[in-house]
Amino acid sequence: MNKKRIVIFASGRGSNAAALYDAMQAGDIQGTLVAVICDHQNAQILKRAAEWQVPTVVIEMKDKETYHKEILKAVKSYHPDLICLAGYMRICDETLVNAYPNQIVNIHPALLPSFKGLHAQRQAIEAGVKISGCTVHFVGTGLDDGPIIIQAAVPVYDNDTEDTLSQRILKEEHKIYVKAVKAFCEDRLEMKGRQVIGINKEEKNDD
Ligand code: GRF
Repeated sequence: MNKKRIVIFASGRGSNAAALYDAMQAGDIQGTLVAVICDHQNAQILKRAAEWQVPTVVIEMKDKETYHKEILKAVKSYHPDLICLAGYMRICDETLVNAYPNQIVNIHPALLPSFKGLHAQRQAIEAGVKISGCTVHFVGTGLDDGPIIIQAAVPVYDNDTEDTLSQRILKEEHKIYVKAVKAFCEDRLEMKGRQVIGINKEEKNDD
């Protein structure tokens, strides 16, 4: 099987990007990281990408229209099979989403469709839920609303802060993001309406 060409979009720390990169290097993901696109010139992800000797493109937002045009041009030049948003703090515009249907995935630190948007972990604590988690989903044109590929749950404890819950969720993010991208690269994901099937195939249906 040919390796998939993967472009990562990130804005900050890049721990999810690192989890994906490590899995590609280890041969667990049949993919090659061909570029990292970042919207902040001081983001930590750029240092990591330099260590990995992966090309980086920095495009900072000045005006919206130019930003989205430049992003599309940059990403197209790398001919990706898959775009992974990994802590990318912007919404992809419609032109990008339509150019790569079901080829853009995102990791979100909550069990979607609950707690979309920013500070999902804080939203979960404030709502008083006892279980939260993370979700990898295909990117649609709305906020955190595309078809769900995989989720993982974690408990929320009475004394959790946004920070402690975020740390617990992050460990699961790294695991499920690798699983989702691995499945994509092995052509195992299929759409059935809004359902994405293929990840939990091995599970028996007990009903
Ligand atoms: C993660 O919690 C991710 O779910 C959210 O932003 C955070 C990014 O962390 N979208 P990192 O940059 O991958 O370390």
